[in-house]
Amino acid sequence: MANTALPDRIRRDFPILEREVHGKPLVYLDNAASAQKPLAVIEGQREYLANHHANIHRGAHHLAQWATEAFEGARKKIAAHINAAHAEEIIFTSGSTDAINLVAQSWGRTHLSAGDTVLVTRMEHHANIVPWQMVCESRGAQVIPVNVLPDGVLDLEDFHAALKQYRPKMVAVVHASNTLGTINPVSELCAAAREAGAATLVDGSQALPHFGIDVQSIGSDFYVATAHKAYGPTGLGFLHGRKSMLEAMPPWRGGGEMIRSVSFQGTTYNDLPHKFEAGTPHISGGIAFGLALDWMNAIGMDVIAQHEQVLVQHAHSTLSAVDGVKIIGTAPNKVGVVSLIAEGLHSYDLGTLLDGQGIAVRTGHHCTEPLMDHFGLESGTLRMSFAAYTTTLEIDRATSALERAMRMLR
Ligand SMILES: Cc1ncc(COP(=O)(O)O)c(C=O)c1O
Repeated sequence: MANTALPDRIRRDFPILEREVHGKPLVYLDNAASAQKPLAVIEGQREYLANHHANIHRGAHHLAQWATEAFEGARKKIAAHINAAHAEEIIFTSGSTDAINLVAQSWGRTHLSAGDTVLVTRMEHHANIVPWQMVCESRGAQVIPVNVLPDGVLDLEDFHAALKQYRPKMVAVVHASNTLGTINPVSELCAAAREAGAATLVDGSQALPHFGIDVQSIGSDFYVATAHKAYGPTGLGFLHGRKSMLEAMPPWRGGGEMIRSVSFQGTTYNDLPHKFEAGTPHISGGIAFGLALDWMNAIGMDVIAQHEQVLVQHAHSTLSAVDGVKIIGTAPNKVGVVSLIAEGLHSYDLGTLLDGQGIAVRTGHHCTEPLMDHFGLESGTLRMSFAAYTTTLEIDRATSALERAMRMLR
């Protein structure tokens, strides 16, 4: 099997993987919620805070310049990692949620009017639904969902029909679903949306940790992601926006950093990217995110992607062989996310019993309530989600633990 040696090489980078939970070795399968951090990120952030910290952009002194260069260096690393045309197209945010809210409030308030529509899909995370509902409510516009097929694949016929019928102003789609694992054909979706006259936003929260991203070949107007799912810190993410779009958009939050000059006669705004970065940013987080990208690139995104494909196939074959287990989301093109239900049992009860055996999974609706309603899954699913350090042996342990838990509850 390809690349199953990867965890042997990298697990020692993650001190947390050596710990025990309830007296059992930790099996961490909750990576779609948040991934663990390698030493390069932990130590790099510590080193910055211990020896280099100062506020950025406006200091004449050595530390301020050092911190500014490191923070702006991280912006360049993000731009290079996703093949952005310009580093100033990268706006630091507190995460994907914050980035989508920025677009919904800045772009949405200036582009949506009564009767307009925003097209999303039924597999979106709440973060790519609620900000659109909020702005649509204030503008008299409407959010329209595209269907998902029973195997978890996006219904492309419905997508194209909705483009024709509604002529949406914005198409906002998830790159990889955090509940189903489905990877959507975002280049194709963005091209069709553009042809229909819509702007596009891609939620790459679950793509960034799993495979390489090229925003120019995707052709999105906006692309968002969050650092903590990609081995980086919490409270930090980014918005990539097409330069011409960002330049034409008004600032969203006001305050320091985002201005050129302030007076009571009127205020003028800074250039990109600072126009959208009011206040002191998460400096250590930005720097640590850059280190997380370095860590992933030292392995190679293709190597990570191939390894995770082995994990998904292994998980699908072992888990679907368990009597009474049904996998929700069997798209041919998936990231390392496996949702399941066990006939007649509540996912929370199973998750609690798995925790007792040191196995960390997530249960419930995974912030995708409309998707759960669509599939009629009242008590949600039990989700196992993988990372570069996950082993097939861990999946086997989780499968045995699941079988044991099912026996106990029956
Ligand atoms: C697909 C998707 N979008 C958005 C988010 C929100 O990310 P954050 O909470 O870091 O803003 C998540 C987090 O679970 C996600 O999985």
